[in-house]
Amino acid sequence: MNTLIGLFFASTTGNTETVAEQIAALEPERIRLHDIATDGVAEMARYQHLIMGIPTWDFGELQEDWDEHWPVLQAMDFSGKQVALFGLGDQIGYGEWFLDAMGALHDLLQSAGAEVVVPWPASGYRFEASRALTADGDHFVGLALDEDSEHGLTDERIRTWLPRVLDAFKL
Ligand SMILES: Cc1cc2nc3c(=O)[nH]c(=O)nc-3n(C[C@H](O)[C@H](O)[C@H](O)COP(=O)(O)O)c2cc1C
Repeated sequence: MNTLIGLFFASTTGNTETVAEQIAALEPERIRLHDIATDGVAEMARYQHLIMGIPTWDFGELQEDWDEHWPVLQAMDFSGKQVALFGLGDQIGYGEWFLDAMGALHDLLQSAGAEVVVPWPASGYRFEASRALTADGDHFVGLALDEDSEHGLTDERIRTWLPRVLDAFKL
């Protein structure tokens, strides 16, 4: 069995890429990075444990590389796989659509059979609406990061979240 974690991300202006590298640097023996702009998404099938990073663009839309590979993702089977998500957005500039793409990815994965792990508390964030909230409205479906307005909190948020992910993965 493959005990490595595949971390798949895509990034238009580099923020999600930087965060993906930060996460991988905390667990270099376990995490393998894949930029879907170059690697695509088919290799997700090789991993039982996945981390996915997605920024929201253009008023609640998918980032362009995720968008391009979306039809392939929709045709994939994620049953038996555990996935932890992190999303990047801007709660001040785009607070009506904060992290919407992470919500869309969560819904796709859940429909495709994945177990999406580690909800993240929504308290302390300031936004108007988000598709990335859980049904109870108290959590996001994955780690919520905002490099535009709260860059200073990112490192601490990652360091709190990643051990919870490894715990959920039982690694
Ligand atoms: C034109 C534009 C549209 C954006 N739309 C949204 C949005 O709808 N929701 C959101 O949460 N963030 C939005 N953002 C913020 C980006 O998600 C944020 O800057 C993110 O860190 C970009 O990640 P990347 O550098 O990996 O592409 C937008 C940013 C720009 C410049």
